[in-house]
Amino acid sequence: MPESSPGDPNAAARSRISAEAVAAFRATHGRAPDGVWSAPGRVNLIGEHTDYNDGFVLPFALPHRIAAAAAARDDQILTVSTLGDDGRLQAADPMRIPDLSPDAVEGWAAYPAGVAWVLAGQGIDRGADIVLAGNVPSGAGLSSSHALECAVALALLGLAGRAEPDVAQLNEIARWVQHAENDFVGAPTGLLDQTASLRCTASHVLFLDVRSGHADQVPFDAAAAGLQILVIDTRTKHSHSESGYGERRKGTERAAALLGLKALRDIGSDALAASLAALPDELRPLVRHVVTENQRVLDVVELLRADRLAEIGPLLDASHTSMRDDYRISTPELDLAVEVARDNGALGARMTGGGFGGSAIALVRESDVDTIDAAVTKAYEDAGWRAPRTFVAVPSAGAGREPDTAGASQ
Ligand code: GLA
Repeated sequence: MPESSPGDPNAAARSRISAEAVAAFRATHGRAPDGVWSAPGRVNLIGEHTDYNDGFVLPFALPHRIAAAAAARDDQILTVSTLGDDGRLQAADPMRIPDLSPDAVEGWAAYPAGVAWVLAGQGIDRGADIVLAGNVPSGAGLSSSHALECAVALALLGLAGRAEPDVAQLNEIARWVQHAENDFVGAPTGLLDQTASLRCTASHVLFLDVRSGHADQVPFDAAAAGLQILVIDTRTKHSHSESGYGERRKGTERAAALLGLKALRDIGSDALAASLAALPDELRPLVRHVVTENQRVLDVVELLRADRLAEIGPLLDASHTSMRDDYRISTPELDLAVEVARDNGALGARMTGGGFGGSAIALVRESDVDTIDAAVTKAYEDAGWRAPRTFVAVPSAGAGREPDTAGASQ
């Protein structure tokens, strides 16, 4: 059976995580935090590896979140602890914010440190105690690291007295988080994940034009059509820094440069053939993926707006094929999850996120959820692989400050 993952209303799970962060903060620091900020993980419905090509993406926020209970300090020291799945707190070494520099911090602490480093460049460097708790699966391609970074960024900004950010400020915070990720952590990722975490809203997918930063909230109510999005975490590890993510990115940037374009976004579907003809063989599949994927995002949005959600399946399938064969970022585990889901009735399925492991999503009839889940689990068992982790996900709320019900500042 898939784990149940309440959507919005998912208030109970959300306030539980917030309360856990507050309790862990009190246990660590012997006082209440000044506030709690939290941010969700995401799945991307479609629009993969288009973000760093100035293109279109269509993510939604997961109900899974990371909460940061935080209190200001006046000595420019940052302390961060995180509550593990086993209920134990793991503390990073205290860091002096003015001394932070890329490559100086290793492991998970590099994420909060990177955010503090970027914000210090914006004059926000007072210091803070932060305790993290959450339930975003890590290493699953569901953006747990961006959820962490966004929660920390909002916490540090909130402690500095900044008001709730408006859309323009959320875009700016997303760029800061990207700066932390690219230049401190060392992962050359785009803007999809942090923008999703910061700007998604419950019951909607976020149709984001990465070039302009403009986004439309497109209603997405699969249950109303008797459908669900089943997330299948292959539990195989991926690492963007070590994987071919950077290579793919460089390839697309080289192609754009050869074509004299700012980004591959500038190639419309009608100009694809001519563009491919002008490129060396090895770059053609990369370009074909990005251009066709942008078009698929537009097509899915058109179907959703026409209230034809049940018809997006073939576009999800085509996206997976394109990533498997052209972009070459799928894995046997992802391919098997997608194939078995489809063979057992899914209307469409694709890997989601950066690739090289992580999760797939499948659009399934509500009545087929358990059958598909069992079939994928069985197929993994037959292949001699660890069982996947599955859950049904509905579009949930984006990042923000938690209401002060969990005992913060009391
Ligand atoms: C990862 C990156 C994103 C995006 C996706 C692929 O999640 O962090 O910026 O490039 O891969 O769409």
